[in-house]
Amino acid sequence: MQTQIGIVGAGPAGLLLSHLLHLNGITSVVLEARSREYVENRIRAGVLEHPVEQLLTDAGLGARMQAEGARHEGIKLRVAKRDHRIDFKALTGKHVMVYSQHKVVQDLIAARLAAGGEIVFDAANVSVHGFRSDAPYVLYEHEGRRQRLDCAIIAGCDGYHGICRDSIPAGVLRVFQRDYPFGWLGILADAPPASEELVYASHARGFALLSMRSPTVSRLYLQCTPEEDIAAWSDDRIWMELRTRLSRDGFALTEGPITQKGVTQMRSFVVEPMQCGRLFLLGDAAHIVPPTGAKGLNLAAADVAVLTKALVAWLRHGDTDGLNTFSETALRRVWKAQRFSWWMTSMLHRFDSHTPFEQRVQRAELDSLVSSAAASKALAEIYVGLPMVL
Ligand code: PHB
Repeated sequence: MQTQIGIVGAGPAGLLLSHLLHLNGITSVVLEARSREYVENRIRAGVLEHPVEQLLTDAGLGARMQAEGARHEGIKLRVAKRDHRIDFKALTGKHVMVYSQHKVVQDLIAARLAAGGEIVFDAANVSVHGFRSDAPYVLYEHEGRRQRLDCAIIAGCDGYHGICRDSIPAGVLRVFQRDYPFGWLGILADAPPASEELVYASHARGFALLSMRSPTVSRLYLQCTPEEDIAAWSDDRIWMELRTRLSRDGFALTEGPITQKGVTQMRSFVVEPMQCGRLFLLGDAAHIVPPTGAKGLNLAAADVAVLTKALVAWLRHGDTDGLNTFSETALRRVWKAQRFSWWMTSMLHRFDSHTPFEQRVQRAELDSLVSSAAASKALAEIYVGLPMVL
């Protein structure tokens, strides 16, 4: 089989790339190790930056997002039982869109299939080859048969645990990493969200976050240990801890049946460069941010925007500048998001290793943020999303 761009991974990055390429008349095939059912129901992020909402809308993917998503014009920081609202609308004129990542994936799959796009689900033993030559190819097995996909470029959109990054020879990539001494225990509950806006709570017992997936489904998180045993957390214990950490006068947490729970590791991770010859790494394959800044999915979309522009310039006009500078361009935004996610994480979580001095500095950081319009605006600008490079 032959195509222009071979895409490994049918998450948001791979599918969006395939869709945008199609709109520009460029062919691609997406290879995905998992089933369609799995990728369409995988619960992940929920906050879309304003520029990403616009990118999706411009790409014809706005209808369901506008109908089922919710515009949020601010977030609340809950500190010492008091709320401090960061007013995105007033500070930046923009909003964010709360719309589940798995719905973005469903919308993209539907759009690709409607346009006759090729997505191979359940592709086994995917491996990438020849990307340091002019003739890269991907090998995989599907329905028991070995297959070969020849292409001009391979896009590695297969996530942090994918095969693409590990296929790059030793010595090419430099890894930058920070592991945090905590994780997040996340739940989905059939309970109407207790707040219309997201609440980021800093509490002596640890961070908590109130988010939502719909008017009837809450998404809530608790800071926990990195290897927290989920079995030790009964539903009652989870609700009690959430009630404690999210408490404020006049606030009542709405509770309901917990339908999903899991623990996420908190990590900052970047590889440089994000390319090796004709293999390009996008999204989580190249970088991971801790979720506190709500940047993961948004960064993946930004990588896709940069690569799409570069591929169009190359395939239409023979201009290789964009491809040569892909990594440099994408990394500028990646590092800004890394800085922001690290800062939000450091400011809001409990660190057992902190000295009393560090505890006071952390408290002053939050106080400086909420008592200064300039500092609040700096947060708002990045949260709603820096302008997309297009
Ligand atoms: C979520 O709804 O899953 C969510 C929202 C905001 C975050 C992280 C996760 O910062």
